[in-house]
Amino acid sequence: MESESSPRRTTRSSARPAASPAPTSPPKRSPSTASPSKAKRVRVAELEGRGPVKAAFTTDYSIAGAAHPIHRVSVLGAESVTLGFGITSHIAKQIAAKAPASTYLVATDSNVAPLHLPALKEALRAHIAEGSRILEYIIPPGESVKTREMKNVIEDFMLANKCTRDSCIIALGGGVVGDMFGFVAATFMRGIPVIQIPTTLLAMVDSSIGGKTAVDTPHGKNLIGAFHQPRHIFMDLAYLRTLPHREYINGMAEVIKTAAIWDEEDFALLENNAEDILNLSAANKKADSELNTDLLLKVVLGSIRVKAHVVTVDEKETGLRGLLNFGHTVGHAIEAILSPELLHGECVAMGMVREAEIARHLGYVNDVVIGRIVRCLQAYGLPVSTEDKKVLQLAPGKHCSVDQMMDIMRVDKKNQGNKKRVVMLAGIGKTHEPKASFIPDDVIIKVLSPAMVVDGGLKADSARKEVRLNVPGSKSISNRALVLAALGKGECRLEGLLHSDDVQVMLDSLQKLVGIKYIWEDNGNTLVVEGGAGKLQVPNSEIYLGNAGTAARFLTTVCCLVRSNDGRTTTVTGNARMKQRPIGPLVEALRSKGCDLTYLEGQGCLPLKVEPTGLKGGHIKLSASISSQYVSSILLSAPYAETAVTLELIGDAVVSKPYIDMTTAMMKSFGIVVTVDPGNDNIYHIPKGVYKNPKTYLVEADASSATYPLAFAAITGTKVTVTNIGSNSLQGDAEFAVKVLRPMGCVVEQTATQTTVQGPKRLKPIPSIDMETMTDAFLTASVLAAVATNGESGPDANLTKIHGISNQRVKECNRIAAMVEQLAKFGVHASELPDGIQISGVNEDPKKALKSPEGGVFCYDDHRVAMSFSILACARGAGQKSIILEKKCVEKTWPAWWDALENILGISVTGADLVHDGSSSAGNKQVGGKAASAAPATSTVTKTTPVKATFDETTVVVIGMRGAGKSHMGKAAAKALNRTFIDTDDYFAHKMGITIAEYVKDHSWAEFRKLECAQLQQILNDHPKGYVVSCGGGIVETPEARVVLKDWHSKKGRVIHLTRDIGAVVEYLTADKTRPALGEDPKSIWSRRRPWYKECSNAEFKIVADGSDASWKAVERDFAKYMRFMLSTEGTFQVAGSPSFFLCLTFGDLHDAVKVLENASEGADALELRVDLLKEWSDEFIGTQISLIRRHSDLPIIFTVRTKSQGGRFADNDLVNMFSLLELGVKYQCEFVDVEVLDAKSEQFLELYKALRANKGRSHFLASFHDFSGTAIWDQTGYGSSLSAASGSRVMMRDKYVELHQFGDSIKLIGKANTLDDNFALHRFVHETVPTLGLQPVKPLIAVNMTAVGQVSRALNDYMTPVTHPALPIAAAPGQLSIKQIHETRYLLGLIAPKKFYLFGHPIAQSMSPTLHNAGFNALGLPHKYSLSENPNWSHVKAMLDEGLKNKTFGGASVTIPHKEEIIKHNLVSTLTEAATKIGAVNTIMIDDHGKLVGDNTDWLGIRASILKRVSIEGYDLVGGVIGAGGTSRAACFALKSLGVTDLRIWNRTESKAAGLAEEFGGHVVSGGFEHIFDKSPAVGAKPKLFLLVSSVPGASQNDLPIDEMFTNANAGAPAGSVGVFVEMAYRPRQTVIIEHLGSIERTNISWSYVEGVEILIEQGLEQFTRWTGRRAPRKVIEETVYANYK
Ligand SMILES: NC(=O)c1ccc[n+]([C@@H]2O[C@H](COP(=O)([O-])OP(=O)(O)OC[C@H]3O[C@@H](n4cnc5c(N)ncnc54)[C@H](O)[C@@H]3O)[C@@H](O)[C@H]2O)c1
Ligand SMILES: [Zn+2]
Repeated sequence: MESESSPRRTTRSSARPAASPAPTSPPKRSPSTASPSKAKRVRVAELEGRGPVKAAFTTDYSIAGAAHPIHRVSVLGAESVTLGFGITSHIAKQIAAKAPASTYLVATDSNVAPLHLPALKEALRAHIAEGSRILEYIIPPGESVKTREMKNVIEDFMLANKCTRDSCIIALGGGVVGDMFGFVAATFMRGIPVIQIPTTLLAMVDSSIGGKTAVDTPHGKNLIGAFHQPRHIFMDLAYLRTLPHREYINGMAEVIKTAAIWDEEDFALLENNAEDILNLSAANKKADSELNTDLLLKVVLGSIRVKAHVVTVDEKETGLRGLLNFGHTVGHAIEAILSPELLHGECVAMGMVREAEIARHLGYVNDVVIGRIVRCLQAYGLPVSTEDKKVLQLAPGKHCSVDQMMDIMRVDKKNQGNKKRVVMLAGIGKTHEPKASFIPDDVIIKVLSPAMVVDGGLKADSARKEVRLNVPGSKSISNRALVLAALGKGECRLEGLLHSDDVQVMLDSLQKLVGIKYIWEDNGNTLVVEGGAGKLQVPNSEIYLGNAGTAARFLTTVCCLVRSNDGRTTTVTGNARMKQRPIGPLVEALRSKGCDLTYLEGQGCLPLKVEPTGLKGGHIKLSASISSQYVSSILLSAPYAETAVTLELIGDAVVSKPYIDMTTAMMKSFGIVVTVDPGNDNIYHIPKGVYKNPKTYLVEADASSATYPLAFAAITGTKVTVTNIGSNSLQGDAEFAVKVLRPMGCVVEQTATQTTVQGPKRLKPIPSIDMETMTDAFLTASVLAAVATNGESGPDANLTKIHGISNQRVKECNRIAAMVEQLAKFGVHASELPDGIQISGVNEDPKKALKSPEGGVFCYDDHRVAMSFSILACARGAGQKSIILEKKCVEKTWPAWWDALENILGISVTGADLVHDGSSSAGNKQVGGKAASAAPATSTVTKTTPVKATFDETTVVVIGMRGAGKSHMGKAAAKALNRTFIDTDDYFAHKMGITIAEYVKDHSWAEFRKLECAQLQQILNDHPKGYVVSCGGGIVETPEARVVLKDWHSKKGRVIHLTRDIGAVVEYLTADKTRPALGEDPKSIWSRRRPWYKECSNAEFKIVADGSDASWKAVERDFAKYMRFMLSTEGTFQVAGSPSFFLCLTFGDLHDAVKVLENASEGADALELRVDLLKEWSDEFIGTQISLIRRHSDLPIIFTVRTKSQGGRFADNDLVNMFSLLELGVKYQCEFVDVEVLDAKSEQFLELYKALRANKGRSHFLASFHDFSGTAIWDQTGYGSSLSAASGSRVMMRDKYVELHQFGDSIKLIGKANTLDDNFALHRFVHETVPTLGLQPVKPLIAVNMTAVGQVSRALNDYMTPVTHPALPIAAAPGQLSIKQIHETRYLLGLIAPKKFYLFGHPIAQSMSPTLHNAGFNALGLPHKYSLSENPNWSHVKAMLDEGLKNKTFGGASVTIPHKEEIIKHNLVSTLTEAATKIGAVNTIMIDDHGKLVGDNTDWLGIRASILKRVSIEGYDLVGGVIGAGGTSRAACFALKSLGVTDLRIWNRTESKAAGLAEEFGGHVVSGGFEHIFDKSPAVGAKPKLFLLVSSVPGASQNDLPIDEMFTNANAGAPAGSVGVFVEMAYRPRQTVIIEHLGSIERTNISWSYVEGVEILIEQGLEQFTRWTGRRAPRKVIEETVYANYK
């Protein structure tokens, strides 16, 4: 019914049951007869005459003085939308007439206000009645202010200004302003009128029409709102001229959506005019008069008419209006995850593609429709998949998992059981139903999933019947057919054209060159082209070919055909990759015939400038040994040369001759007959002429694609007919059926244009087959060979050997290796041959013999690998599932492959997601099934137990100068991260069987570089995860290799540039004689490569080592730590604890700071590197500075470049260099990077910021503003006057806050206090103003005032207060305080309550704990006190705790014998940490947030920390030993276990006690004496051992132990290079007997170090201190004090 009343809508297909899908034959669209504009007029008239349905018709009228007519559209029966261009005055007049009011509240946001508010206000003033007043209200821009809080503020403002019921709100702005003020209007005094004046495209075509208004809540968007129809909606398209480009295309997404569901003609308009339409956004600076405003009017009008219509028919969204939700069901789920980084329209764009794919899966639409939608969205720069580069850059680290998306969709109230409402397209401009359809979850899951699960075994009904299908067209034929038809004369219907980007690019370019007209018919199955009969023109803009290689080659010659003399030329260009693909030989040949082509960038590559000289013709010589496409290019254009062409192919053998034959054969079909010279096969004669277009040209199937359905028949024993390829085909792979399938036992029948295959019961192997003419089909053949048998069995039985396919090693991946590797996953044995592969077929029934591919089939992003293995999966039995990862890779040639497999071939396919914790793609799980909800165990593990970290497993590449230490560090990092290491130089030598030096001697550096690049690509293809790859120093020398590296890091892998001072590198190189001489001074090499290293890497690390072993060890540790930080999947770095502090390092060179660093940083949570204060700003110098800090401190680094106007030393207007420094901070993985928001509005700033953000990794951005001038104002409530304030000279901190909120993970606002009052203003700002802004998410804020009078604000600030320290030479800013001073001030202000801490135990008089803790409190200025509370009775402890809790003075306690276990036994604390529970003892009591007592144990952390200080445990065989079974031995066992010790031995004099421990902690008892503790530990391989021995035997009772024997025995079982650490728990005497022995033992195999008891005491004490105070303990002061007092 709706369709009858619709303004214009092509016929909707009748509902089609999902069971009879045929994706290749879509519903027919009834041809439309009228031209678009005519159609509109006619319909309008019809509707007007038809009485009641006055839905969405438009009327046009003109007003005096206006350049463009004004349009009106009806909504809900009233003409309430007015649309025009430049109509402000008209708007004002209309408002005065339509909505008389006592008060007009003009509402807008602070972006729109300066642009459009004054003009509107002025116009209003001119038209409204005398007594009416105008108020204005300006809100900050952006979604984050669309809150309930903001609504309150606005309402208060209106009430305070005495707005009454006869007020009218005018909402001038985007959807945010419209929604916010629409909602205010809906409820203010129970509803007042609102006029919507949308200023964004999205608001115009969507949010302003329909009356929906709402605000967001933390629970979700638009959850609170009302329907409130606006009194009128005025759209002035001139407003769009100021709209940022991204916002503009955001609105285009909705426009495209509307056309997609409603109107194919509108859609075509969008497809064909993207460039013009995009020109209308603000990004284009052309004058209004130069623009095609009528086009924009048409586009917007088309969209709003539809919206107006459906709103009218279905105001409250019960049916038809739901169609506007196309793309939104999935889009909203994506948006929930990716906002705010991505905009609504961008998410809807991705949603549309997914929802259209659902429709394709259900058989409602075909590939063509998907292709058109995808390409149309792309033409406007919208993302089409969550893996789009744009998405990865805008929202780095975010991932849309299928589970999460399904969860989000699940909450929609419109769902029905396990079905969701999704709009199903039935074509472009058509939908399956006049409302959203209910789609089962499993279908949605299948489409959203990145991987496919193929269930072997045929669905019952399809088991025996013959299947017929169409295979997507051949790309080569499609491209040739387009060129021919465009150059030909007359109309040509091209059927079965492949829909791919390449073909689209060809079509677009031909349109520019030839001016051809084309339309799609049969829902895009047929392209009707009207040829230009050889007439060509110089295109108006450059021909951009993306990465379409065939188009580049074919069109270069076509461009030469153009003849003109108006001075213009043709430019042919492409993307970065294209600009590296050679085209030289073709250009040479053309130049020889008078064509004038100029390379605009690199020689021999695009871009090219082509003069319109025409092609002379005559004898053309062309080298054909590189690409047959050069030949075809000249052949195709040759008939249009001035004289007949003779083309002679010269050089070595002609490659790919079949393609040349294909070209000539096709030319013949278009009426031009090419003859081969009778005397010379390599000479072609092409007559002059004009192609005669055949009425219809059938594009043949892609022969390689056709092998899959045919192989399906072969492997399942069924019958399949491919209807669009047969014996006529000239494509090499077309022989597959006859040459491969028939010998394997299939029955093959072929007509000229069809092929039918009936598979046998079992396939037979082919002992040897040469597939040189059909190399792409070898993968299909290989999977068939996997199940082919002669009845033999054994690993080498049933062999099929395929030869002649060595070129397949350099395709999308090394396909031969890929097949071997992936076949193995099915349990099939295969191996590489020099020029091919051999496969041993399984003999047993494949249903039993084929294994489930563990971890899924890895496809190397190669469509052929994916499709082949999905065929092999079909050979497995019903219910046996094979996972094919990366299902999307089939899109390159057969986007609907999975649908065809399921719907036509009858195999059941389900979706699977990959776990995205960075674990390898092997760890995948099924989605939607039971396993799906296996959430990670977020158990009660407390913060004291280190949570096992997860890392991004993507292979890391290391580059840098030879001699920088790449191999060394790469190996160390691989070891630390448990990865495999590859050195590309070793790889080369291994692969080639010859050293690089030898190779270079025999060949050349250039040839080596070529191979090196190919091998790097190979390594990355083969090992995308779990590796560290170190490259040769010169890898960056060739552009090809640079592309590989850049590609790797832009796809989210890491390429680390390892640097070292060039002097050190030179020194190292002079000493190293093992490698071929560089033949060049290393310094000049370095200066040449430096920029390349920089662009090829997205991470950097500087090695600072003096060459000693110890310094290399330290670098290794630092590097491992750096890698762990970088690769951790924990997300943006955060600092916990409140208050927190950072120390500003104000040094010119940190070498001067090293001595004081530890001392000065006590209590701090981070160190700020003030780069602007450094004496040099070179990458090298800064790198050294960072490495120095990392060497000497564990604290996070804040990387800051402060400008002059904000109190630093960096130039104010040097954004580019500022950002290049910040980039260095990001590359060095600085935990924080301070981003001074210098000019949030400038495009340059935004661009630079975006680029920086894209590589942000885990760095935390501190968006900062420092008011050094001292004029900013903190104190300002409400918003009403922000515009006037901003236009004055004073900055409002509130505006700054809102601005910085977009840029930082936290915000830093530094003001200047002139009076004490300014501090209170700041305090109110933080506690009152900021919360009312309601910005989401809430971000941490640093707000401080400089100067002495501002000091109190530093004491009051809770988060990351900048501090200084007396040990530093100067403070970084006026009034800066130390942590000690801040704490003292906070104490005086009553912000820190002094607490009492105790040691409970007996006897404890000698304890060092009071000394330790009081030294710490004192150093940090904390007012706490620690004292002894000695008593042997646990009831004393209880009484103390009760008392302490009651009067709230108790801060915490240490516990020692005899109470450690009693605390637990008598339930003296409310909760126990995991460590305390496992160890069964409490040594620390603390108070949690709810005032409850918590028992913890820090002994084990002391043990662990002191071990890790001495050794890094990676790479060793761990052996643990614990002697004694007393209290601390349990902590020892726990600590050793936490380090990963599995071989744990326990010795105790009383064996039974040891046995108890052993059982509990999974160790074993050492019987037969102490000396045997490390016996029987035979060497495992060559791995050295790490012995970790902890003694809890009191010092006094160690005398009688056979210590020497024990060490001797240990030594006997240890391989060389082993290491030992002995940890002494007893601390009196300081040097126990065991430690003394250690000094004298023979160090043959094991080198021992030891830890004194006092060190453990300090370490566990530091941990206690942190737990009690929430901050790092001042280690150095504590250590010094304890050792000084230790006797
Ligand atoms: N009510 C509905 O039916 C409906 C429908 C769709 C979307 N929405 C809502 O609309 C909002 C999104 O609307 P939006 O995309 O217009 O966002 P928006 O209002 O935030 O505007 C986008 C940005 O463009 C700026 N801007 C607006 N007009 C400008 C101009 N002419 N020149 C320069 N800058 C300009 C704004 O200040 C803002 O920064 C969301 O809150 C969404 O929930 C509502
Ligand atoms: Zn929308």
